[in-house]
Amino acid sequence: MQHVTNTKELFATAQTKPAQAPLPEIQWHRTKSDPTRAWLRLNEATIPATAPVRQPVDADTQAALDLLRSRLLRQMRQTGIRKLALTSPTHGCGTTTLATRLALGLASQIDLKVMLLDLNLRKPELSNQFAITGITARQTALTGTRREFDSSAVRVGHNLALSLFTQPEPRAAEALGTLRARALINQLEREFEPDLMLFDLPPTLACDDMVAAADLYDAALLVARADHSTSDQIDRAERLISEQKPCLGVVVNACRFGVAYDRHH
Ligand SMILES: Nc1ncnc2c1ncn2[C@@H]1O[C@H](COP(=O)(O)OP(=O)(O)OP(=O)(O)O)[C@@H](O)[C@H]1O
Ligand SMILES: [Mg+2]
Repeated sequence: MQHVTNTKELFATAQTKPAQAPLPEIQWHRTKSDPTRAWLRLNEATIPATAPVRQPVDADTQAALDLLRSRLLRQMRQTGIRKLALTSPTHGCGTTTLATRLALGLASQIDLKVMLLDLNLRKPELSNQFAITGITARQTALTGTRREFDSSAVRVGHNLALSLFTQPEPRAAEALGTLRARALINQLEREFEPDLMLFDLPPTLACDDMVAAADLYDAALLVARADHSTSDQIDRAERLISEQKPCLGVVVNACRFGVAYDRHH
């Protein structure tokens, strides 16, 4: 043991201590993202005129859809929400139909970059709605790698990206809740810098997918069906969503005046 008798000696001892080896410098290899190139790299597709999503709707419904789009856009800009999950209380309320129409409506604003991902892994429907053929991905990109996203994704025009697949994934909640899924969504955000990401999800009361996926989205929109959903179902679904993330509102589909939107906040 070393004995130090006065402060001068203490100082000298401290001075003669062997210098510690410097920590190796951390090298950050951060490639600068180039969203324009990322968008251009996606396979381009056109939506056939016969696709369900291309079928015309009556003027009232179109006006209601346009209004919903613009209100949502403003709300999302005000709140900074970019990733929106669409869900319903129970099956068949029109979530997928609304998700597709909303994505097209948003993408018709040319300064927006919009991504729509099929996260209804149990019953993927987006590829049918858009009737886009030649998609090589059978399984969702969430269960695979970043490269698999490319094979599941198509670009419609310059600013709408769709992630589609055809094979159901029975272990949906498990896939949606993985860190890998979260990492993939983060990576897509970094690479493509979308203004909005829409996720088509299964009904909230039918399975645990909305809860399992809660780390993937910022907020949710609940799609109820006027001729089908009960107020109890809407309440329960809303409560379950709000336990995870903000519920922006309830869209009442198939009501007499097209599509109604009740905003909460
Ligand atoms: N406003 C509407 N008027 C008439 N039919 C509609 C309307 N909205 C949706 N549909 C029809 O209802 C059916 C279910 O719609 P959709 O697949 O969009 O519901 P979903 O909530 O996504 O269902 P799921 O829970 O199975 O995912 C489809 O056949 C669709 O064409
Ligand atoms: Mg659906």
